[in-house]
Amino acid sequence: MMKNRFWQLDRHPTGHDFADALTLREERLGPLGDGEVRVATQWLSMDAGTRMWMSPRTDGYQPPLPLGSKMVGLCLGRVVASRDRRFADGALVRGFGQWADYATLLPDEAGLEQLDETVRDPRQHFGALGMNSWTAYVGIAEVAGVGPGEWVAVSAAAGATGSLACQVARNLGAKVVGIAGGPEKCRYLRDELGVDLAIDYKGEDVAAALANVPGGLNAYFDNVGGPILDAVLPNMAHYGRVAICGLLASYDSDAPMPGPANFDQILMRRLRVEGFFIPDFLERGAQLLPRLRGWMDEGRLTVRFDETAGLENVLTAYERMLTGRNIGKVIVRVADQTNPPA
Ligand SMILES: NC(=O)c1ccc[n+]([C@@H]2O[C@H](COP(=O)([O-])OP(=O)(O)OC[C@H]3O[C@@H](n4cnc5c(N)ncnc54)[C@H](OP(=O)(O)O)[C@@H]3O)[C@@H](O)[C@H]2O)c1
Repeated sequence: MMKNRFWQLDRHPTGHDFADALTLREERLGPLGDGEVRVATQWLSMDAGTRMWMSPRTDGYQPPLPLGSKMVGLCLGRVVASRDRRFADGALVRGFGQWADYATLLPDEAGLEQLDETVRDPRQHFGALGMNSWTAYVGIAEVAGVGPGEWVAVSAAAGATGSLACQVARNLGAKVVGIAGGPEKCRYLRDELGVDLAIDYKGEDVAAALANVPGGLNAYFDNVGGPILDAVLPNMAHYGRVAICGLLASYDSDAPMPGPANFDQILMRRLRVEGFFIPDFLERGAQLLPRLRGWMDEGRLTVRFDETAGLENVLTAYERMLTGRNIGKVIVRVADQTNPPA
């Protein structure tokens, strides 16, 4: 029987203290249940939204993960055993599995998908072709309905979802304002992603910087909520659209995020504010892929990977992301194809 290491959620974390909440454990894997598929994990995706599953909140978009269960996350790897005819041994797949050497899952529950092997760097299935990219596309093109010549702001702009949202907006002909923490991230936004204006929210007055946008912002792709949303609202153009993608400013607390102090601007400026959640659109992935793949192949949808090696270092990678030490997509390399876990 194969040995499997996995991360277990023992307690709800306080702030960013993940070491106190999760432990790395070991088990011997038994035979597969009916319909199950087992995947040898090559990479794990670190996603900010999963922080909410660790909290005890029952009013979030997913129920909390029960204490004592394996931590769930997006995995990319190869099928090593299958009791589902759709997934043959050796297939490259992605889906919601566990933070583990081997993820055992039910394909339909896990959103398991067989991946295109013609993509040279398989990490792109977590990058330009992954769920952050679908989120970026749906948020910018559909929820915010961004069109050519419009001004759109993106927060957490140097992270995975934000960096892709900036590029989708730019590719659709919009003018882009990227908001991120620190001068290095702002340089990345300007030099590599080609944004029109980069704002360092840790060192600059965001509202004052946004006041330079001629005519105001037509759209805002919000990853954080909190004070940045308050700085954006009075700088929106009339009839602007706000796509609420995430609320990072509150993920380290179990309390709900309070509404914006500048709520009245929604009426004064006749704004439309709409939340969206990519699991509601998962079946649209296949439809979005040709366009995303085209941009990726043309070099117009690039992703920096912030890669940490070793399942035992997952918490370091996770904390890097939530405390903003990353540029681009945070992933953990669990094993190589040529060097599977024992
Ligand atoms: N709605 C959906 O379906 C969906 C799907 C995927 C992702 N998301 C959302 O997308 C957002 C980004 O997630 P990701 O996984 O791509 O992570 P990420 O952006 O790669 O990493 C998180 C980034 O958030 C920033 N941040 C952390 N705390 C912050 C705060 N208090 N105020 C402002 N910025 C803060 C940090 O950058 P700085 O250095 O700039 O602070 C950090 O780099 C999250 O809100 C997530 O929930 C939503």
